[in-house]
Parts: sequence; C-alpha cells; structure tokens
Amino acid sequence: MVKKSNISSDFLAAAVDVRCTFQTLVVLIVAALVVGAVYLTAESGYLMQEDEEEQKVRPAGCDLFSGRWVYDNESYPLYKEEECTFMSDQLACGKFGRSDLSFQHWRWQPHQCDLPRYNATALLERLRNKRLVFVGDSLNRGQWVSMVCLVDKVIPRGRKYMHNNGSALITFKAKDYNAKIEFYWAPLLVESNSDDPVSHRLPDRIVRAQAIEKHARHWNDADILVFNTYLWWRRPQIKVLWGSFNTSDGIYKKIKMLRSYEMALKTWSDWLEIHVNRTKTQLFFMSMSPTHERAEEWGRMKGENCYSETEMISKEGFIGDGTDPNMMRIVDSALGELKARGVNVQMINITQLSEYRKEGHPSIHRKQWEPLTEEQKSNPLGYADCIHWCLPGVPDVWNELLYAYIFN
Ligand SMILES: *[C@@H]1O[C@H](CO)[C@@H](O)[C@H](O)[C@H]1NC(C)=O
Ligand SMILES: *[C@@H]1O[C@H](CO)[C@@H](O)[C@H](O)[C@H]1NC(C)=O
Ligand SMILES: *[C@@H]1O[C@H](CO)[C@@H](O)[C@H](O)[C@H]1NC(C)=O
Ligand SMILES: *[C@@H]1O[C@H](CO)[C@@H](O)[C@H](O)[C@H]1NC(C)=O
Ligand SMILES: *[C@@H]1O[C@H](CO)[C@@H](O)[C@H](O)[C@H]1NC(C)=O
Ligand SMILES: *[C@@H]1O[C@H](CO)[C@@H](O)[C@H](O)[C@H]1NC(C)=O
Repeated sequence: MVKKSNISSDFLAAAVDVRCTFQTLVVLIVAALVVGAVYLTAESGYLMQEDEEEQKVRPAGCDLFSGRWVYDNESYPLYKEEECTFMSDQLACGKFGRSDLSFQHWRWQPHQCDLPRYNATALLERLRNKRLVFVGDSLNRGQWVSMVCLVDKVIPRGRKYMHNNGSALITFKAKDYNAKIEFYWAPLLVESNSDDPVSHRLPDRIVRAQAIEKHARHWNDADILVFNTYLWWRRPQIKVLWGSFNTSDGIYKKIKMLRSYEMALKTWSDWLEIHVNRTKTQLFFMSMSPTHERAEEWGRMKGENCYSETEMISKEGFIGDGTDPNMMRIVDSALGELKARGVNVQMINITQLSEYRKEGHPSIHRKQWEPLTEEQKSNPLGYADCIHWCLPGVPDVWNELLYAYIFN
C-alpha cells in the first residue's frame, strides 16, 4: 500500500513533475516567444540603426546639399593659407589683413549623411595619369586654387609645378602621379569678347552663343570636367554674335539674358554629347555661387554689403538677390536633356549652402588690381569684394562635395 501509495504518490509526484515541467515548458515557450519577439524587434531596430549608420558613411542616395554648417575648429581649416604654395592673392584674406578667421572653422553637415573625409592622397591616386579640368570664370578658378591647396601639402617640394604662360589654360601638375589639375578660363563657356584670361573687363559683353570649339578643344580629352558659368551673364540683355569676332560681316543682336544663357548651354550640351567620351569622362556643373551685395536682405542698412561681416546668415533656406533661380532652372533643364541623351552631368548644388556664408568673402582683404584712390579708401563698402571667397573657406567645402561625387 505504502509502496503503491508511494508509487501513486511517485506517480503523482511524477505527474506533478510532468505538469510542472509542462507548465515550465509553456512558460518557457511563452517566455522564449516574448524574448524572441523582443529580440527580433530589437534586432530589426538594430538593423535599422545599422542601415542609418551605413547611409551615414555612404553618400549615395543622400542629398549632400541639404544640411547645415557646424562649427568645427578641430578639423577645419583643411590647410593653412600661408602654407599653400599656390595661394592666390585674390583670395588670401589673412595675408591682406583679415584678422577674424572664424569663417575658416566651419564644416558642412548634410542632414541625412556625412561627407566622406577628404583624402588628398586618394584623390591624387584617382588622378594618376589623368587630367581634372575646371572650366569657367573666376569663381571656378577660386575652386581650382582650393583644390590645388588641398593636395599641395601631401606633395613634396620639387615634385609639383604650375605652368601659366598667360594662355587660358593654367596647369598644376603632381609629377609623381603624372596628374594634372587645371583651370581653363572661359567665363561664359562659349566664345565671348571676355575670353582673354587677363584683360577681359569690357563694358560691352558679346557672346558667340553658337561657338565653343575654340575653348573645348583644350579640355575635350580631360578625365574629369568641372564647369561653371553664371555671374558674367547677370545683366538684362546680352549681345549675341553670329559670325566671327575679326570679320566685319558679323550679325549682332541683343537678346534677353535668359534666352542667350539657354542658347549657350545648348551649344555646350551638344558639344559634350558629340565630342566627349562619356565612358571615360566624369562631368560636373557647379551651380551658382551667390553674392552678398545687399545687406538689407539680412537686416542691415540699404547700401551696405558683406563688408565687415563676421557671422553667417542663420535663417534656414535664405536665398538672396545674388542668386537667380531662373538661371538655375535653365541649367537643371539642360542637364536633364543631356541625361535623356545618355550624358550624365552631375550638378554640384552649392548655391544654398553658400547663401548662408555672407562672412566668407574677401571684402576689402585681397589684392587690389589697381591702387586705391584716397576717395575709395575712405569708402570701403565701395570696393569690398562680396563675390569671391577667402581661402581656406567655402570653396574647400565645394571641393569636398565634388570629391564625394568623383568617388561615387
Ligand atoms: C539645391 O539644393 C537646395 C538645398 O537642398 C534645394 O533647395 C534646391 O532645390 C536645389 N536646387 C537644385 C536645382 O537642385
Ligand atoms: C576650439 O574652440 C573652442 C571654443 O571656442 C576652444 O575652447 C578650443 O580651444 C578651440 N580648439 C582649437 C583646436 O582651436
Ligand atoms: C588616404 O588614401 C590613401 C590612398 O588611397 C590610403 O593609403 C590612406 O590610408 C588614406 N588615409 C586615410 C586617413 O584614410
Ligand atoms: C601656353 O602653353 C600651352 C600648353 O600648355 C600652349 O599650347 C600654348 O601655345 C602656350 N601659349 C603661349 C602664348 O605660349
Ligand atoms: C582672328 O583673330 C585672331 C586673334 O585674335 C587670329 O589668331 C586669327 O587669325 C584671326 N582670324 C582671322 C580670320 O582673321
Ligand atoms: C572612351 O574611353 C574608354 C575608356 O578610357 C576607351 O576604352 C574607349 O576606347 C574610348 N572611346 C573612344 C571612342 O575613344
């Protein structure tokens, strides 16, 4: 009996055990499911985070042009003004007396990702046996100087040279890489009466909107081309010439600027489509570089400009009168048409990010082409340069954006 009872109690005990085990199992299974679900949720959360991380380091698919300026005096400036062998006196603001250098310490932070870190050696490797050519006006020339300064410090003395014989083409060469970083002066891209790289300040602007070959033959075989053209068009009308500059039978006609801009970009597009090897050549177009000539736009007095500015504009999305959205649209649509014809030109959209930087211009801190008169000296507003950009400065960031796309 006892034994039986024992047995039964054993059995019971066993049954209880089994039940316990069963309950435990149920509990365990439920727990496992809950934990699993939590784990899965956590994991997918983790994956999402990782995706975001991933996106942060990889700019593809991210809008690099939408973002904000972040003060970063650890990493910026990317080089020192006085250490750049080929610095231009037009842009060396420190050398010409600018003492507030806080404008050099800003990093561009896109909203959805990070810009890749600029690596001068990697860029030179990418350019080995190649030509990178900037084609355009003095804003593009400033960007070219910035690009040269950005690689300058990793190239030893004597292993680099600058060739400038007064022609439209200036060549910087890194000898050990057989790499060229060049600038070609063509402020309206097509032929014009402002094509002389030195004396081009003429009261009357004339363009041959149908003719680009005089320039294009010099950059046609480049591996990377970076174009710009904007400021030289900024007048209500442009005189367009059909015919040659040095014959007397040319036909001249004044045309609304936007229409002539469109015609010139069409000529440029046609050239790229037919003459440029699209598997070899990477093509870029720098959007408008804004000017800051009208201080009333940021709450100062009418008649003032960027002179004495030390801080940027903080109003998100600020667009001033120095930017012509209609011209930007014309560029955008020209690039769209090229794309439809199989030619991919990436716009580097620097307009908005540069709009904020009213304090980044040389103002009076640059070399003057002609000595200033006493009258000019007494009115610095009158000769402040609110068009170009001090270096190191904003154009370095344009080049970081370009760099991101060159490696994309
Ligand atoms: C350029 O970028 C700004 C800022 O993201 C944007 O508002 C603007 O639409 C862009 N313009 C073009 C033509 O892509
Ligand atoms: C950066 O700026 C901060 C705050 O203005 C300052 O404390 C720090 O010393 C600066 N660092 C460098 C490297 O200049
Ligand atoms: C820069 O690029 C070179 C060549 O690709 C590479 O060897 C080097 O490690 C890179 N430097 C950094 C800091 O990433
Ligand atoms: C300047 O150099 C280029 C080659 O870089 C050459 O084609 C051109 O003829 C030279 N021009 C002058 C005026 O010497
Ligand atoms: C036109 O002028 C350029 C220099 O400005 C010269 O090289 C060229 O030979 C001239 N062409 C004609 C047809 O006269
Ligand atoms: C275009 O460039 C590619 C790559 O360098 C080359 O293989 C190809 O032969 C070039 N095409 C022409 C028509 O020159």
